[in-house]
Amino acid sequence: MPHQSAPYPDRSLTAAELDWHCHAISRINADYQRSADTHLLKLQLPCFQGSTLYLKDESIHPSGSLKHRLARSLFLFGLANGHIKQNTHIIEASSGNTAISEAYFAQLLGLPFIAVIPKNTAQEKIKKIEFYGGKTHKVPPHNIYEEAAKLALELDGHYMDQFTFAERATDWRGSNNIAERLFEQMQLEPNPNLDWVVMSAGTGGTSATIGRYIRYQHNLYKNTRLCVVDPDHSVYADYFSTRDSELRSSHSSRIEGIGQPKPQPSFVTSVIDTVLKIPDPASIATIHWLESILDRKVGGSTGTNVYGSLQYIAHASQQSQPINVATVICDPGSRYLDTFYNPDWLKSNDIDHAPYLDQLRNFENTGQLIPIKF
Ligand SMILES: Cc1ncc(COP(=O)(O)O)c(C=O)c1O
Repeated sequence: MPHQSAPYPDRSLTAAELDWHCHAISRINADYQRSADTHLLKLQLPCFQGSTLYLKDESIHPSGSLKHRLARSLFLFGLANGHIKQNTHIIEASSGNTAISEAYFAQLLGLPFIAVIPKNTAQEKIKKIEFYGGKTHKVPPHNIYEEAAKLALELDGHYMDQFTFAERATDWRGSNNIAERLFEQMQLEPNPNLDWVVMSAGTGGTSATIGRYIRYQHNLYKNTRLCVVDPDHSVYADYFSTRDSELRSSHSSRIEGIGQPKPQPSFVTSVIDTVLKIPDPASIATIHWLESILDRKVGGSTGTNVYGSLQYIAHASQQSQPINVATVICDPGSRYLDTFYNPDWLKSNDIDHAPYLDQLRNFENTGQLIPIKF
């Protein structure tokens, strides 16, 4: 065959581009090398009657939430795909935590970062994004995805798109993902088996990673099941039952970071065993109750996670069959002083958590909790 010069472009990286790329990957890996794992706290209260609640404390990452892991993965994914280069504008649609963690990594790489955020995002979170050198672009909550995609196009930047890529940017087989670390940290416990892992869903990325990991390791963790807890105004619980992708909610979730008004691509229903709908006042009551147990404030989604976990523990004590439940402290309460810890905000959002707080105090004395569903 006669030799013809290829009519195709040569898109090989230049020496300078390659240098920057290698430098970027090394910086992220060095940052990772410097970090320790997050602690797995162990809670054994008398009212648990032999059951144990394990809390994977993701609030202690350098950028302050479970989204530190996702941001690292999304940057590596973008670099490996050739979408992130020197001077690429990084754009994200985020209610705050992902944006804070991505701003952290953008700063590490010297890249400009813009977060497209719902206009009701807590001021503390905005300050954090700015602390790491990021900028914010406030839009109505239902518009953040379209606006982020539009902005990326205008700036010739890269839209990280956590809602699409969260479930695939993380290596669910291991690589120190949250699930692998959780199960490894259980290994020296008197009973290393977990009966339930309870997790809320924002993108659904964390629940997808945990659910896939459990199934991948089923020969080791046959008896572990995954429950996703879902706040008011979110369609995820109904989507789990119906798989109807047209489901819509007319309100946004009040528990920042979790629950969605429409199904998102990273919410993988096939790896979830069941769902529990947690009323918002119960989530808020739980963070106030937890403050007296942990001696610190945690974010609202942690309240959702823990209230769901307590449901399983209370049920187990009624059956006199102690169990192990693990869940996640997603972020610190200091990010929500203006909202979940502010009585005016609670009142204006019609959240009366007092009856649930009474219920939790009663649980502490009796080991009984009004069941949501079993
Ligand atoms: C505070 C908080 N909790 C829970 C989640 C849920 O995590 P995922 O997006 O992996 O479902 C998020 C996600 O943004 C979050 O910010």
